[in-house]
This record gives sequence, structure tokens and C-alpha cells, in this order.
Amino acid sequence: MQMFEKSLVKEFLLYWKNCRETEDLDKIAQGKTTVTEDGNRVELTWQINFRYGRFLFVLVKMFEPSTILEVGMANGISSAYLAKAQNTYLKEKNAHVIIDPFQSSQWFNAGTALLKRLDLYENVRFVEDYSLSAIPQLEKDGHRFDFAFIDGSHCLDHTLSDLVTADRVLNIGGLIVFDDSADFGVKYAVKYIDKYRYNLRRIRFDNNLVHALREMTNNRRRLTVYQKIAIDDRGADGI
Ligand SMILES: C[S@@+](CC[C@H](N)C(=O)[O-])C[C@H]1O[C@@H](n2cnc3c(N)ncnc32)[C@H](O)[C@@H]1O
Repeated sequence: MQMFEKSLVKEFLLYWKNCRETEDLDKIAQGKTTVTEDGNRVELTWQINFRYGRFLFVLVKMFEPSTILEVGMANGISSAYLAKAQNTYLKEKNAHVIIDPFQSSQWFNAGTALLKRLDLYENVRFVEDYSLSAIPQLEKDGHRFDFAFIDGSHCLDHTLSDLVTADRVLNIGGLIVFDDSADFGVKYAVKYIDKYRYNLRRIRFDNNLVHALREMTNNRRRLTVYQKIAIDDRGADGI
């Protein structure tokens, strides 16, 4: 994976602004309803907005991760953006692992149904489990990832669990992206990472002042991106 230098940030922002490749998904993401596996129409809720869906799309297109780990599927909107991007350069089963314990019980499989409808399921392996047990199992099974998108339980403790476990399966140079990072427990997790996680370097897409203003005023920077630059080798004392 290439290191995210300043010149890449510029390239990224330009691509994000002018990207027209996701117009089909943008329409779906802005819809009011979606369709479950049984064909029932249900309200479309909790999804990433289309602007951030496109953000994920562009990030994946630029970095071309061989393997993607995604926590939190709901109705499959973020999954569709990630899968659409990955499908442009790779077709490989299990290259995109998605974890959600409530896909059938709460979401009536609307997420997996959407990917299948859009013909974006080829790379996907879906795991119906809590991330705090599913990710360690993936690690034990030898899986490694180049990209992780964390959008599951937003409680601080669960977000930290996702951070620790996802970092352990992330390759050096890999990206980890947190959604809703200005809200809920996630905002505290991001502060913790910034202060103590030396092995994760935050990628800022604008200067500190603009970034802070955007975060404070309209939550536009809800996605926070880190690149793994080293292994977490702190000892028990945190040093
Ligand atoms: C905000 S929604 C995800 C939205 C989705 N990423 C999108 O943009 O379309 C949060 C999801 O996390 C799932 N979730 C809740 N607790 C979880 C856990 N412990 N592990 C994994 N997923 C969890 C929920 O079932 C829900 O689907």
C-alpha cells in the first residue's frame, strides 16, 4: 500500500469532488426506502450519506486494497460503495469481509440483498456475528486486510474493541476509517487514537483550522482516516 503523502490528498480531493462513477449508488443512498431479502419495502435508515459513500469509493479506487474489512452493514449502502470500487480492479471471493450480528434479525438481510441486486456480491464474505468475536476469529484464521471501515456499535468500548482488533489484522500501510467520528463514543476513540496510537497516522484532508471548523459546525468530516505506519508495540505500561 502506498503511503498517503500530501500530493495524494490533493489528488483525492479533486477526484472526490468530480467523481461521477457512483451516481447509481448516490440515488439509492438518498432514497427513503429499500427492499429486504423477502421483497418487502422498508425504511432506509442509518446509512452513510452519499457524499461519504463517494468518499469511501474514491479512497478504495485510489488505494486498491486487496482485502477490505467492514464492520456494520445495516442496509448495505456503505458496503455497496466499497464493493463497487473494489470490483473495478479485483474479482475474488472473500476479498471483502462484512461483519454484522443483526443483518437477518434487524435488517431482514436488506444489506446482502442490495449487493446481490447490484451484482456486487462476488467478492463478499458476510459474517453474522459481533465484531468483537468475529475479528479475532479472522485473525486466528490468518486473514489480513489492507482497508478497514468501522461503522458498527458506536459505543466507546465497542469502538475501542474494533480499533484494537482491526489494527491487529491490518497490514502496514493499510487504512482504517471510522464513520460518525464526530459523534457518540467514536469521537472519544478518535481523540484517544490521536494521542496514544503512534502506529496510526491520521490523514487530514484539509488544514487543521478548516478541519476543526467543519467538524464543529456541520459534521461534514464525520469520516476519520488513519494509515497504519507500524505495528502497535507498546508494552503493558503503554510505552
Ligand atoms: C450505522 S449502521 C451501519 C451503516 C452502514 N455502514 C451503512 O453506511 O450503510 C450500524 C450497524 O452496526 C451493526 N452493529 C451493531 N453492533 C455491532 C457489533 N457489535 N458488531 C458489528 N456490527 C454491529 C448494526 O446492526 C448496524 O447494522
